[in-house]
Amino acid sequence: MSRILTGIQSTNIPHLGNILGAVLPAIELSKQPGNESLFFIADLHSLTTQKEAAQRINSVNSVAATWLAFDFDTQKNLLYRQSRIPEVCELTWYLSCFTPFPMLANAHSFKDKSGRLSDVYTGLFTYPVLMAADIILYDAEFVPVGKDQVQHIEITRDIAQKFNGQYNQEIFVLPQAKVDESVMIVPGTDGQKMSKSYNNYINIFLPEKELLKVVKTIVTDAKTLEEPKDPDTCNVFKLYRLLANETQISEMRTNYMKGGYGYGHAKTALYELILSKFEKPRIRYNELMNNTSLLEKELQVGEEKAKKRAQEKLKQVRSVLGF
Ligand code: ADP
Ligand code: TRP
Repeated sequence: MSRILTGIQSTNIPHLGNILGAVLPAIELSKQPGNESLFFIADLHSLTTQKEAAQRINSVNSVAATWLAFDFDTQKNLLYRQSRIPEVCELTWYLSCFTPFPMLANAHSFKDKSGRLSDVYTGLFTYPVLMAADIILYDAEFVPVGKDQVQHIEITRDIAQKFNGQYNQEIFVLPQAKVDESVMIVPGTDGQKMSKSYNNYINIFLPEKELLKVVKTIVTDAKTLEEPKDPDTCNVFKLYRLLANETQISEMRTNYMKGGYGYGHAKTALYELILSKFEKPRIRYNELMNNTSLLEKELQVGEEKAKKRAQEKLKQVRSVLGF
């Protein structure tokens, strides 16, 4: 059996890029027989950038509702809020005493983020130690992440190895990053990588009218309706292709190339495809967001299971450390 673990920060509402690039591949992995998945909402990590409580609460609900809307099986697996298992903070302290300072100072992500901020807080610096604790607290073997997070998994392995080495015992499992090279980079409405930081994202859970408005903002060139168009350089087509079946793709490709088919038509087709493709998740997501007590119940089931495991692991760690 493989134990898979991953976290999504609660800094926003998951967008189409997050869903196609992270949520759906992780759900697929969780459905393989024999796998057990621990998916959590990294709300403690979100405090490094997000200070607003109300926004965090909304985002936590939204991330949880997204996992559930895409049928994450919470009977077989665990879904939980990081902050509800505070044992992770205790472990972070222990691990920080096994984390060489230069390893954190040299982390790409820290250098990158701190370079762009006027106030750099310690939490941003020790971010990878909390992430290591997230992972090794639950004996995770595989961690599906984007390329930008691979160094954090290497740091996790180094810390775990140092700890195990010090006490000459296999206390912690050494996790492996699982980077799916086949996962596409989803373009945003401006053609750059879709990201909440670029404000070019599509929130597929929006009400119909608002969703259509966003789809209409996708940037295209200025070709007239009559002119033939190149599908492969068009942002609307690039997004359509990620969601459509083979027949739909080849039909739209033909329409582009023969002319008499405008970008407005293509955008409407993309909008309709989003509605039909995500019909069920859209309904489920909105049900959960309008009934957060249901969401709360689902999360608490996962948190009870996560807590038990965390407590067992910490008992072992404390005893090894002489506390
Ligand atoms: P954002 O760039 O919006 O801040 P995050 O960095 O929080 O997104 O990413 C969360 C997860 O979603 C990561 O696993 C990341 O690889 C994936 N992801 C984010 N944007 C995209 C995208 N445009 N295409 C594919 N995957 C993406
Ligand atoms: N740092 C990850 C991100 O920004 C989120 C995260 C926190 C995480 N803890 C984790 C991912 C543990 C995997 C495992 O995407």
